[in-house]
Amino acid sequence: HLNVHDYLRSHIRTVPDWPAPGVQFRDITPLLQDPRVFRVLIDAFVHRYMAPELRPDVVAGLDARGFIIGAVVAYELGIGFVPIRKKGKLPFTTVQETYELEYGSATVELHTDAVQPDQRVLLIDDLVATGGTMIAGWHLLRKLGAQVVEGAAIVDLPELGGSQRLRELGLPLHTLVAFD
Ligand code: PRP
Ligand code: HPA
Repeated sequence: HLNVHDYLRSHIRTVPDWPAPGVQFRDITPLLQDPRVFRVLIDAFVHRYMAPELRPDVVAGLDARGFIIGAVVAYELGIGFVPIRKKGKLPFTTVQETYELEYGSATVELHTDAVQPDQRVLLIDDLVATGGTMIAGWHLLRKLGAQVVEGAAIVDLPELGGSQRLRELGLPLHTLVAFD
């Protein structure tokens, strides 16, 4: 009789020293692989975003693992899904946002017609580490005039400071599992 938090946590695999020595990589693939756990995961998000005060008009998912969760949540809520992609993948006109990584930088893009001004958007990824990816997605949506209801992710790594950065910027964040 585990609670949802512990049940999901117990299905996240920690891979030591990947992709680099000293990194404890939190791997969500076992969570997706087991159909009962996958359903508990999706239902946790769907239940939260069915509530009238949080209900979005559209889900935006972050490349690439945010697509897996985001698309299913959007489908279950009966709303559309839009992808925020790594640079060079989207064919139509885009807005772009560049952000700093530990080494170098990354750019993400969103189609200019992906969301309408004042639409309520739920921004989804699998994990928040430094928060750079989610903050970049938030900026893209705001450039198009959208209202970001909340950021959502399965995993928060609070030691990397991302969830605190998001809070300081005024973007609410909802996560299901934290690893120190
Ligand atoms: C990972 C993860 C998040 C991001 C979190 O994606 O899925 O998108 O990093 O890190 P941050 O909070 O420090 O920005 P990754 O860049 O490995 O891409 P992938 O989903 O294509 O594997
Ligand atoms: N797991 C998955 N994605 C990540 C991680 C992690 O531990 N750190 C940064 N991105």
